[in-house]
Parts: sequence; C-alpha cells; structure tokens
Amino acid sequence: MAIRTVREVGDDVLTKQCREVKKMTPRIQQLIDDMFDTMYASNGVGLAAPQVGVLRRIIVLDVGEDPRVLINPVLVSSEGSQTGDEGCLSLPGKFGTVTRPMKVTVEGLDRDMQPVSWEAEGLLARCFCHEIDHLDGHMYTELVEGDLHDAAAEEEMAES
Ligand code: NI
Repeated sequence: MAIRTVREVGDDVLTKQCREVKKMTPRIQQLIDDMFDTMYASNGVGLAAPQVGVLRRIIVLDVGEDPRVLINPVLVSSEGSQTGDEGCLSLPGKFGTVTRPMKVTVEGLDRDMQPVSWEAEGLLARCFCHEIDHLDGHMYTELVEGDLHDAAAEEEMAES
C-alpha cells in the first residue's frame, strides 16, 4: 500500500485514452490498493488510474457508502439530470458547475475480474460519470457551465 503522486492538469497522461485490463495481475491489485490509499489521503471520493499516471481502465470510488472498484467500466444507461458543483484531485482547489445524469447503470469487472452491474444515483452517479470520463482523457472542466471557482469557502466539497 502506498500513496502515489496525483497527476495534475497540464500532464499529458490526463488527456490520453486508457487501455482495457485483460488479465488481473499482482501489479494491478497493488495499483488498486494504492489508488484507494491515494484517494483517501487526498480526501477524494473517486480516482481514475490515469490520475496516478497509469493508462488502464480502472476507477475507484467511495462517496461514504462502500468502497468500490470498477475495471473496464461502461456507462450502459442514464436518466434524469442533476446540476451541481464538481471538483477533481487533478485540479486542486477549483470547482465548477456540471450537469450529469441523476441515475446511471454501470457495468464492468470487479477486482476478481467478475462481471458487475451497479445502479447509482446522486453523488455516486456523478462520480461514476466523472471517473469514466478520465479514462477517455476528459476532464470535468470541458463540461463546466460558467467559470471555475475557488474552493476556499467550500473546503468540504467532494473532489474526484
Ligand atoms: Ni477527477
């Protein structure tokens, strides 16, 4: 277990397409453990592998319910919408308003490479969308309505 360096905006790794995980290895198990450590150390609610410099399709999330890891995640359906502030550990201290689906269904693999399908709503749905975007080289800032603002008054806001 180890905390890895979170890559920040300006680092090319955040703009790249990530590759699917075909086979679980000890190295990938270690990566997943480190991603959780790194996310918790930064008080984040989600983290995608490219944020620690690894171009693989792996995300971890914990919005205060259960820790979740999803490998090769796919957004299979969405409904409704929610508009609210979003932040990212790769752009510390900034937030912006983003509209996301209110509910999503995501599919992928768990850390034993077994298929999983989850329904999520609210913050967890937002978080899944945000993290999956990272795997295709996209940042929430591409979707922000209006200007980014500073976190000063909103230190408790979730960053992912
Ligand atoms: Ni992010």
